[in-house]
Amino acid sequence: MPVARAACARLYLARLREVLPEKRLSHCIFTAEYLSSYAESIGVEHDEAVAAGLLHDLCRDMGKSDLLAAARALRLPVSDEALKKPVLLHGPVAAERCRSEFGISDDVYEAIYWHTTGCPGLGPLGQGLCFADFAEPMRKFPEAAEARDILRKSGFAAAMLYVAEKEVEFSKKHEVADPNSMAFYLWLKREKA
Ligand SMILES: [Fe+2]
Ligand SMILES: [Fe+2]
Repeated sequence: MPVARAACARLYLARLREVLPEKRLSHCIFTAEYLSSYAESIGVEHDEAVAAGLLHDLCRDMGKSDLLAAARALRLPVSDEALKKPVLLHGPVAAERCRSEFGISDDVYEAIYWHTTGCPGLGPLGQGLCFADFAEPMRKFPEAAEARDILRKSGFAAAMLYVAEKEVEFSKKHEVADPNSMAFYLWLKREKA
């Protein structure tokens, strides 16, 4: 079913249009469409997939000081890594805002909160969102195409592990690496063994 037909999608899209540039809005729509295409196979309801996919980057275009101020006002934990790289807070701040604005479920909250890094124990919707955010069809880097291919051929667990490993590799190339990416990858690896 197309994303736009899900309950609440019109409300979410109207809100996203207020704060996101066109390219980011497209990414959110593609993330929701892609996630909803395999949601049922990982035990996630369609409307939950649409909510998480559409709303995950609600705060991605906030400035550094606004993100830090919002995180503090919301009493969210601010790690040393987030102090150096406030964009790491766009998931947690969005999760809080979406809960107060739209009354999202706990699963959607968790998925949005952790979508950038993942974390040990992350549930099916959270994992599904991490994967879709990385691999949605508009992502042009070769690892995204490889991830979609693994999903088709080997299933979600193998594809998620591949993406988590790539996220660790990518984060090592950045100045600030969030330790949650590594913790998520190691947890997935243990779960799969
Ligand atoms: Fe994001
Ligand atoms: Fe995203």
